[in-house]
Amino acid sequence: MTTTFLDTVLRRARAGIGTFPYPHQAAALLDNPLRRRMEDPGQSIDVLELTGNERVLEIGPGAGFFSVELAGRLDSGQLDLFDIQPQMLAKARRKLEQADHHDVGYTAGQAGATLPFPASTFDAAFLAEVIGEVPDKQACVRSLAVVLKPGGKLVFHEAFLDPDRLSVAELRALCEPAGFVLDHAQESRWKDIVRFRRTP
Ligand SMILES: C[S@@+](CC[C@H](N)C(=O)[O-])C[C@H]1O[C@@H](n2cnc3c(N)ncnc32)[C@H](O)[C@@H]1O
Repeated sequence: MTTTFLDTVLRRARAGIGTFPYPHQAAALLDNPLRRRMEDPGQSIDVLELTGNERVLEIGPGAGFFSVELAGRLDSGQLDLFDIQPQMLAKARRKLEQADHHDVGYTAGQAGATLPFPASTFDAAFLAEVIGEVPDKQACVRSLAVVLKPGGKLVFHEAFLDPDRLSVAELRALCEPAGFVLDHAQESRWKDIVRFRRTP
């Protein structure tokens, strides 16, 4: 990963504190006009290459910055949101309902444990700036391998200013032993968008 000096400082500072979820009280910093000006959520969602009828799982949607874009791409498919903080799910739900997306599933829980969905449910899963906050990342990825269909896509968006940002190399080390293969990687100093596929 090409990192910035600030990335390094943030990672070092965070290392002494341990992992914890981004606080829901600061959700406004995740979903605001400034971020929208600097970052097009559609660019990361494009990497999922959705056709419109898929079942998609978004882990850690926060206040729904990417979720509205995701729901908008699923004409006859379905989106499920999963987050450890029910308050974040409530914020995402408000945003989705305002955008007229009413057929979305909301489940609260720990992504570092068994995900509460039947095996081979989803065609794709999306995680933006989440995996670094999950205490048991390996358990999370193993569980994603179970709930994704064979050939299913797993897309990570990792970006600058997130103190828990994982590099493409770190994502590979995490995902490949769980049965995923790297399929696509857009890397830059500011943002990495990385797609894996679940092996059949
Ligand atoms: C930094 S926020 C990113 C939110 C959103 N993806 C975005 O980019 O705007 C991280 C999100 O992951 C959720 N999260 C953190 N740890 C989690 C865990 N172990 N299980 C499920 N969700 C988790 C947090 O509650 C929060 O909503």
